[in-house]
Amino acid sequence: MANLSIRSVSKSYGAVNVLDDVSVEVEEGSFVVLLGPSGCGKSTLLHAIAGLNPIDSGTIVIGDRNVTNLPARERDVAMVFQSYALYPTMSVAENIAFPLKMRGLDRKTSGEKVDAVAKLLQIEPLLGRKPRELSGGQRQRVAIGRALVRDPRLFLFDEPLSNLDAALRTELRAEIKRLHQSIRRTMVYVTHDQTEALTLADKIVVLKAGKIEQIGTPLSLYDDPDNAFVAGFIGSPRMNFLKAKVAEDGKAVLVGDASVDISHLTTRLGIGQDVTLGIRPEHLDEKQGVELALAVDVTERLGSTSYVHGALAGGETVVAERREDQPRFGETITLRFLPSRTRIFDTQGLRIR
Ligand SMILES: Nc1ncnc2c1ncn2[C@@H]1O[C@H](COP(=O)(O)OP(=O)(O)O)[C@@H](O)[C@H]1O
Ligand SMILES: [Mg+2]
Repeated sequence: MANLSIRSVSKSYGAVNVLDDVSVEVEEGSFVVLLGPSGCGKSTLLHAIAGLNPIDSGTIVIGDRNVTNLPARERDVAMVFQSYALYPTMSVAENIAFPLKMRGLDRKTSGEKVDAVAKLLQIEPLLGRKPRELSGGQRQRVAIGRALVRDPRLFLFDEPLSNLDAALRTELRAEIKRLHQSIRRTMVYVTHDQTEALTLADKIVVLKAGKIEQIGTPLSLYDDPDNAFVAGFIGSPRMNFLKAKVAEDGKAVLVGDASVDISHLTTRLGIGQDVTLGIRPEHLDEKQGVELALAVDVTERLGSTSYVHGALAGGETVVAERREDQPRFGETITLRFLPSRTRIFDTQGLRIR
């Protein structure tokens, strides 16, 4: 059952369509990530779900209630912000208890709920402190606690990890995942970080300039992108995009001198047609396959693997993963890939399957 239905939601500021006919179904208990570059409308959509921001048209249904015209406090959602938004003069315990106090809950019950949430988030020793006496990661845990204690129908997160350093981000990311697995509540999570999206989501909604580019599981977006935008946005380092041309027989595309078999495609392409061949860095390290010569520029060593940056004979730059050797500047190496790993796009960036 869908716990949240966003149906044909549009919103504009002046002449700019910030959300353009956006529809998303969020299953009960699932974790959905809204992913896209800065300014694509993620926060606007999240605020629309929360009721913090009116929409121009469309419908928002939570559970079986049409909440489109209900104020935020009647929607049974709790939101966690990038900026934590804690009350500086209140202790951690008072911050977490605040929504309960607003509801008029008695002190004893409220105290028990705060303790239970503090235990779940492992912040019991911090309950007496003020926000300024906490690290960023601890502050965000408190903000999550304040959302949890409300026991809402729906949790909304707006880039909650963006203000944290890399190590803390990874740690808290895993904790949010664990939290979701233990409470199984519906969560909608906004980020511009594809790694967060891939690691957290049951389903990712990729947005660009207020429009949905694709909706799918992390693996389906990685493996089977509908367009070059999604292909480039998901995966790190990003997919390489190479200029290619359909060969005389129509069964291969040519990248420089290399011929890549495309007989598995069901679409018939015009001879000589310009296309883009997408191939991920991690798929350029095969033992056999189509060969490309790469003049090495820089090698980044990450310990278990390396990323080699370089240029093809035609001058196009490529990033390739290398697991067994670490070529140096000035060397020319042979990259090998399987045609089945390539993704072909037309000149508009639409996937050709
Ligand atoms: N109150 C506002 N008035 C005018 N433009 C706005 C307002 N809020 C957001 N925008 C614009 O809407 C677009 C989407 O913003 P936002 O939803 O915050 O993006 P994101 O969260 O994906 O970074 C941006 O171009 C932003 O400048
Ligand atoms: Mg935002």
